[in-house]
Amino acid sequence: MIDVERGAVEPADGKLGILLVGLGAVATTYIAGVENVRRGGATPVGSLAELSTIRLGKRTENRSPRIRDFVPLATLNDIVFGAWDPIPDNAYVSCNVAGVLDSKHVEPIADFLKSVEPMPAVFQRDYVKRLEGINVKTGATKRDLAEAIREDIRNFKRQNDCSRLVMVWCASTEVFIKPGPAHATIQAFEAAMDENDSAIAPSMLYAWASLMENVPFANGAPNLSVDTPALIQLAVDREVPIGGKDFKTGQTMIKTVIAPMLKARMLGLAGWYSTNILGNRDGEVLDDPESFKTKEESKLGVLEHILQPSMYPELYGDVYHKVRINYYPPRGDNKEGWDNIDIFGWLGYPMQIKIDFLCRDSILAAPIVHDLALFFDLAQRAGMSGIQEWLSFYFKSPMAAPQLTPEHDLFIQHAKFKNTLRWLMGEEQITHLGVEYYEYERA
Ligand SMILES: NC(=O)c1ccc[n+]([C@@H]2O[C@H](COP(=O)([O-])OP(=O)(O)OC[C@H]3O[C@@H](n4cnc5c(N)ncnc54)[C@H](O)[C@@H]3O)[C@@H](O)[C@H]2O)c1
Repeated sequence: MIDVERGAVEPADGKLGILLVGLGAVATTYIAGVENVRRGGATPVGSLAELSTIRLGKRTENRSPRIRDFVPLATLNDIVFGAWDPIPDNAYVSCNVAGVLDSKHVEPIADFLKSVEPMPAVFQRDYVKRLEGINVKTGATKRDLAEAIREDIRNFKRQNDCSRLVMVWCASTEVFIKPGPAHATIQAFEAAMDENDSAIAPSMLYAWASLMENVPFANGAPNLSVDTPALIQLAVDREVPIGGKDFKTGQTMIKTVIAPMLKARMLGLAGWYSTNILGNRDGEVLDDPESFKTKEESKLGVLEHILQPSMYPELYGDVYHKVRINYYPPRGDNKEGWDNIDIFGWLGYPMQIKIDFLCRDSILAAPIVHDLALFFDLAQRAGMSGIQEWLSFYFKSPMAAPQLTPEHDLFIQHAKFKNTLRWLMGEEQITHLGVEYYEYERA
C-alpha cells in the first residue's frame, strides 16, 4: 500500500526499539556489533544504512551523499534492544555459545550484553524439532500466547521510553507449512488461533502481535510467518510495513549475481549443484528434514525466477538444481558453501564454474538485520505499509504482490532500493540512459 507524499518523511526522533525474535548467533553478533561500533574503533561493514552513498541527479553534478545523510534514519545511539528466546541465556552467554566473535569484541562489552535478557518465548517443539526450550510462555490458546507477546511489546516500549519499534525474526527455521484455509483471511486466522490449529506456527503469532501493535515486521527465516494472505491484509489494514523471507547472505547472494550474468549473456545452464557445511545451532536445526524443507524451498526458487525457463527453453528448460545443507559441527558458524555450475555456450559446448565461499554466516547476516530494522522504521515514518518489495535486496525469497513474480537479481534489487529512497525524498529516478551526456554541438 502506497500512500506517500514525496519528500514527507517524519523525522527519526527518539529511541528506536529493535525487538529480535531469537537471541542466537545472528542476533547476538548483531547486538554486539552495534555496541562495538557505538564505543568506537569498529566499522559496521556490510551495512548500507551506515556506509553506502547514493548518487542524486546527473553524473556531472557530483552529488553523492551518504544514505544516512539523505534519508532520516535512526542513529546507532538511539537504538535499544529487546529479544525473546526459549533458551534463557542472556546475550553475553549466547554470544559465547555461538562463538562467532573473538573475545576482544565480547569481553569489553560484557556488562552491556548481560543486560540483554530474553523474554519468555512463544515456542513449541512441534515447529522446531531439534530445540528444547524452558524459557517459554504458557497459555490456553494460541491467541492467549499472542496476546502475551503484545503485552511484552507494550511493556518494552514503555520501560525503554521508545518512540518507535520494529521486530525482526532472527529465530530458528520452523518446519515447512503450506498456506491453507487458516491463513486465507484474518477472520479464519484468528479463529484458528482460538482453536489451537496446528497451521498457526509461533512465528505467525509474533507477526500477528507485531501488526496489532503497529510494529513493522521483517522475517529473516524462510518460514511463512507474515507471508500469508491473512497477515498481508492485516498489515495493509493497520498500515504497517512487512517483509521477508530469509536473509540473503552467502550462497544465495552469489547465486543471484551469477545467474543474472549467465542470462544477460544468453549462456545456457545444464545444472547447478550447491552444497554447504555448517556447524552452528542453525545447522543443527536444519539437519531436521522438516526444517530443511522450508529452507530448501526458499533456496530453490531463485534460479527459476531469474532464468525464466518458459521464455528460454533452449537455455534453461532442463536445469538440474540441487541444494544440500550438511550439519558439520567442527566448522561452527564458519560455513563453507560450494557451487558447481555446469554451463554451456556457443553451439552447446560445455563449461564449468566452481565457487568455494568460505564465509561466516552471522557476520554476513548482522548488517542485514541492522539495515532491515532501520529501513522498515523509515518505511513506517514515510507512510508505506504492507509488503516492502523495495527491500527484496535483503531477502532470499522476497515477498511480492500476488500478481508479480519476485525480483531476485541482486543488482536490480539494489537499483530498486536506491530509486525508492530517491522517490521517497522527491529526487529524480536514475534510469542510466545518459544520452544527454553525448549531445555534442556540431563544429
Ligand atoms: N546467518 C545467516 O547467514 C542466515 C541467513 C539466512 C537466514 N538465517 C536464519 O536466521 C535464523 C537465525 O540464525 P542463527 O544462526 O542465529 O540461529 P541460532 O540457532 O543461533 O539462533 C536462533 C535462536 O532462535 C531461538 N528460537 C527458536 N524458536 C524460537 C521462538 N519461537 N521464539 C523465540 N526464539 C526462538 C533459538 O532458541 C535460538 O536461540 C535462522 O532461522 C536462520 O535460518 C540465517
